[in-house]
Amino acid sequence: MATATQAVTLDQNVARYVAKPRKMLINGQWVDAASGKTFPTYNPATGDVLAQVAEGDREDINRAVDAARAAFDQGPWRKLSHSERSRMMWKLADLVEKHAEEFAQLESLDNSKPLTIARVADVPGTVDMFRYMAGWATKIEGNTIPLSAQGNGKFLAYTLREPVGVVGQIIPWNFPLLMAAWKLAPALAAGCCVVLKPAEQTPLTALLLGELIQEAGIPDGVVNVVPGYGETAGAALAAHPKVDKVAFTGSTEVGKLIVQAAAGNLKKVSLELGGKSPNLVFDDADIERTIPGAAMAIFFNHGQCCCAGSRLYVESKQFDKVVDGVSQIASKIKIGSGLEPATDMGPLVSQEQLNRVCGYLESGFAEGAKATVGGKRHGERGYFVEPTVLVNTNERMKVVREEIFGPVVTATPFKDIDDLVAKANDTEYGLAAGVWTRDIAKAHRVASMLKAGTVWINCYNVFDAALPFGGYKQSGWGREMGHEVLELYTEVKAVCLPIS
Ligand code: NAI
Ligand code: MG
Repeated sequence: MATATQAVTLDQNVARYVAKPRKMLINGQWVDAASGKTFPTYNPATGDVLAQVAEGDREDINRAVDAARAAFDQGPWRKLSHSERSRMMWKLADLVEKHAEEFAQLESLDNSKPLTIARVADVPGTVDMFRYMAGWATKIEGNTIPLSAQGNGKFLAYTLREPVGVVGQIIPWNFPLLMAAWKLAPALAAGCCVVLKPAEQTPLTALLLGELIQEAGIPDGVVNVVPGYGETAGAALAAHPKVDKVAFTGSTEVGKLIVQAAAGNLKKVSLELGGKSPNLVFDDADIERTIPGAAMAIFFNHGQCCCAGSRLYVESKQFDKVVDGVSQIASKIKIGSGLEPATDMGPLVSQEQLNRVCGYLESGFAEGAKATVGGKRHGERGYFVEPTVLVNTNERMKVVREEIFGPVVTATPFKDIDDLVAKANDTEYGLAAGVWTRDIAKAHRVASMLKAGTVWINCYNVFDAALPFGGYKQSGWGREMGHEVLELYTEVKAVCLPIS
């Protein structure tokens, strides 16, 4: 692992953006926290403070929910025609595209993902999500239903799909801007009003997006952005009696707290939670393609992906070759600050995540696992961890059972397909899985046996605004993206009347 050097020159707007304390967006106004408090966001490559941000808590959430409530109940959003809503969302996409480099740099500073990745993944994915959902704003339809009551044709019955109302959205730090888009775009397409709480580690791009939401002409109060900590601002939002629905992405542990908090007014809940996704390599796979695919499945975004291919299972004959190949790729990954153009992998997002991932490595070694590459922190400054491949693992180890959320993959050989599928499914999670084989029938058969919301065959980490994403089991409730996500943001109303 080499260390990359030489950072890009910051865009002047980005330098200005981080130089000033950032305010929160409530009812179309940029305001300080009611408490006057701010909190720091850090540059993960150095641990230095990057910017100060208004620290929202219960009182700010109350103000933001009142604004969203008024915008929904009396305000202009629902009264605008569907095509006007669509046009504003499309304009927002154009504005994000226009400011793409600023977003990429700001994301890279706040999260320390490689700028090169933010440019090709996070920012274009955000633009695409708003455009895709802008299309849906004019296409949310109900059905006509044939009733048998009192004989055929006696009633006209139909369904309407109406916006669910005021939505609280709580998002994580691994794809800060993209997660904001995954949440906001379908809510806006459906006609909902939103209070968005970005992760405390990475609030900056969601706040910049707030400025463009105003510029796109989306009316005041329709989108409110309240940065703050999970235990205060997040918990207040999840429990708020005037919020109709909460959408959350983050840890399974907090997902369960959200469910409890939502019980007070039985608000609707959707959850996109953790994973421990199996990546299955058969003897007959195209190994030259599989090796980089398996490496990317775990090392993309430093392993900080809910769907990371963190359990690699390889059929015995190819095991050594695949493990060697993935280890070699890991050993060549250039680690450095996200803003250095040569960087392949940045630091983890925070000291907390560094401690967590290093703790998992120690527990793996204590239980007998061996690293073929990596295995420890990289350097002494910033939150870097070496990309790591662990072998000699077994199904009882914490490193095999629990989500590590870092660049650490466990590799295990297999012989028998039924045993493999049982192992792959032996997890409380069910977010994603990978299958690598040239045998088409086997690929589909195995895909049908896996308990996972996404199965990638001979590829991994393919996302698209049109492709639903979400989890089985404790990986969550509901599906984001695709037309499926509209179910999360709409209520179905059945209407019927006698016609004879
Ligand atoms: P987290 O689940 O605590 O944080 C995610 C979001 O939830 C943040 O906006 C946070 O402020 C908010 N939050 C935290 N506590 C809350 C509460 N009581 N009520 C309402 N909102 C709350 O995740 P954290 O601590 O940042 O990371 C811990 C682990 O979670 C990671 O190691 C990883 O395993 C998992 N994770 C999974 C993600 C995913 O994409 N599914 C994303 C981030 C973390
Ligand atoms: Mg947490």
